[in-house]
Amino acid sequence: MSPQPQAADSLIWISGATEGIGLGLSRTVPYDRARIVNLSRRRHPELESHYLDLADHRSLTAVAEHFLRELAAFRGQRAIFIQNAHLRGMTGFAAETGAEDVARDIAANVAAPLLLGDAFLRAVVESGYRGEAGLVMMSSAAARSPYEGQSIYCAGKAALEMWVRVVRRENERRGRSHIWVTAVRPGFVDTGLTRHVAAMADRDYPVASTLRAQLVAGGQAMDADSAARQIWAALPARQSLLLFGEQVQVEQPGGG
Ligand SMILES: NC(=O)c1ccc[n+]([C@@H]2O[C@H](COP(=O)([O-])OP(=O)(O)OC[C@H]3O[C@@H](n4cnc5c(N)ncnc54)[C@H](OP(=O)(O)O)[C@@H]3O)[C@@H](O)[C@H]2O)c1
Repeated sequence: MSPQPQAADSLIWISGATEGIGLGLSRTVPYDRARIVNLSRRRHPELESHYLDLADHRSLTAVAEHFLRELAAFRGQRAIFIQNAHLRGMTGFAAETGAEDVARDIAANVAAPLLLGDAFLRAVVESGYRGEAGLVMMSSAAARSPYEGQSIYCAGKAALEMWVRVVRRENERRGRSHIWVTAVRPGFVDTGLTRHVAAMADRDYPVASTLRAQLVAGGQAMDADSAARQIWAALPARQSLLLFGEQVQVEQPGGG
């Protein structure tokens, strides 16, 4: 159970803590007296929740205001934001998926995570918060592996990892040593998202049948709590990327 806001020593925001890895992260927070806030469309049944819809720009603005308000009033040791939420997008080949679905996918899964990361850092700087401030951007092996049928997902995760690398340098140049920023590739985790993409037709997502076979065979995908525990154990991170295993390999010799 979360402490009263004034008594909290850690303030932890997790986007998408209603399910999957985010839920695992919320269940395994390693700090005592942590106030944990879920940011997503559904309310978490137990945790404090603040509405976020990645596809709705107004809700991003409201979250940015919430970050600033809460950080300005916070006197505890650490504030962490884990940008984990992901809208299950329209997996499919470019030029074969509806243009409106592509636009929504880009807004929710490319633009929104970067806007949320920026909003958190802006709130830390503008509030004058001087405790430890940490930002985790949830990435994927898709930042490196060109999965056919997932062009927006891959492009979004690659963009996010480069954003992290640039922002780390900027923070160093500005002497913001109380802020750490990292990207995390969590590995292959059995969640609703994994099962959603594994159920796609191979024509639209050629690794789908391999994923399905791995899920049926068992033993390869982690459960969300185990994945979450190993992420927490690696924080605060000194490097720009934390790697916890890879998903199906798709690179071919000479394949680009
Ligand atoms: N699972 C894996 O193997 C794997 C591998 C690599 C990377 N990742 C990354 O890990 C993160 C979590 O993945 P997951 O597998 O745990 O996904 P998941 O099971 O589908 O859970 C997604 C979470 O995001 C929230 N969400 C979805 N659409 C949203 C929206 N429009 N606005 C706000 N919140 C939204 C959901 O909450 P609501 O429905 O309540 O809004 C839910 O809590 C993602 O960034 C994903 O790319 C996962």
